[in-house]
Amino acid sequence: MIGVLVSGEGSNLQALIDGCLPIACVASNKRGVRALERAEQAGIPVRVFELAGYRDRDSRDRDIADWLALRGVDLVVLAGYMHLLTAAFLDRFPNRIVNVHPSLLPDFPGTSAIKDALSAGVAMTGVTVHYVDEGVDSGTIIRQEPVAVEPRDTLADRIHAVEHRILPEVVRELCAR
Ligand code: GRF
Repeated sequence: MIGVLVSGEGSNLQALIDGCLPIACVASNKRGVRALERAEQAGIPVRVFELAGYRDRDSRDRDIADWLALRGVDLVVLAGYMHLLTAAFLDRFPNRIVNVHPSLLPDFPGTSAIKDALSAGVAMTGVTVHYVDEGVDSGTIIRQEPVAVEPRDTLADRIHAVEHRILPEVVRELCAR
């Protein structure tokens, strides 16, 4: 079963829901985000784990891991989750945590990858699905797909369309392992 971690819009979560993937639950570090509404509409259990409610990040991450494990999660998908995960979480799901990122890593890690690619003047950027480690978008790459930067005004939409196609594909393959 899959546990999905979100922080915002949740369009990648929606792609996983629409792909009929076995999502056990959705956890967010932020309340009131659109991703939580999408999960609730699909009848998926949700819970918010706000950092402010914990003494530190380790104890928050341990709580998320416990909640996922209780629901039978054995594959974790970060779909727009905007916090780094500590070892307290990573050690609980070894080689079973994946993230989708809007660039061809290792180029343009971090939270402004599309803007950074536009500023850098590259001709190609793309999408990466990768395993998650303690670094910023630094884990082993599972799949990449290039996207041409031009036309620039539609770049973000074209990148998101690729994300919504390849994330469910990769997750489906990993579920079968
Ligand atoms: C996506 O671009 C994803 O690659 C990045 O954060 C964004 C999340 O979008 N990690 P959404 O919340 O899935 O709509």
